[in-house]
Amino acid sequence: MAMALTLLVWLGLPLPGQADTLEAEAAYQNQCAACHIAFPPKKLSAGAWKKIMGQLESHFGVNASMDPSSQQVIADYLAKNVARSFWSDEIPPHNRMTQTRWFLRKHGGIPAEVWGRDAVRSASHCAACHPEAGQSYFGDDTVRIPR
Ligand code: HEC
Ligand code: HEC
Repeated sequence: MAMALTLLVWLGLPLPGQADTLEAEAAYQNQCAACHIAFPPKKLSAGAWKKIMGQLESHFGVNASMDPSSQQVIADYLAKNVARSFWSDEIPPHNRMTQTRWFLRKHGGIPAEVWGRDAVRSASHCAACHPEAGQSYFGDDTVRIPR
């Protein structure tokens, strides 16, 4: 068994179980990154993701519904990858990541006027200030507030 796993790693092939995860990640990217970035799964609670996945026909003013099998794969993927830390039971207003306590705390120092700038417009436009948001990287070292 150990030998077989070593061989898979050496060949660069997915380990058992990992293939499902890769497939789920791909589904998440395909279905949920068409209109905005694929928001980092671990930054919202299981309850909030569940609500979002349960009302995709009326998703923040648009219809984001999809075939039931993709919907199930993505719902499971999000449920498995949520935050384990202290905000993990939080259901923020409108299920918005941008209304979570961690988001408001981390972004509280940004002047109100910045959020209205043409290059930002919405707090959910993460990539406006986090150029690597698409790769789920939000480190301080890359933050750049557009003018
Ligand atoms: C057809 C376009 C579209 C698709 C597809 C879509 N969304 Fe959205 N989503 C939106 C819009 C529009 C908003 C509101 C953006 C805003 O207020 O700036 C939004 C907002 C969100 C928010 C809240 C962001 C915030 O402000 O905190 C989350 C979370 C979210 N979407 C998750 C998903 C997930 C998960 C999927 C895939 C199952 C998905 N979206 C697919 C259009 C879409
Ligand atoms: C208007 C610009 C702007 C937008 C839009 C924005 N952020 Fe930020 N973000 C910042 C700034 C500035 C910081 C603080 C950096 C620091 O602590 O010095 C930050 C910090 C963070 C941190 C903490 C990073 C760390 O290492 O502590 C995370 C995570 C984060 N943002 C995620 C997001 C997500 C997810 C979105 C979209 C839903 C988003 N941000 C939208 C500007 C923005």
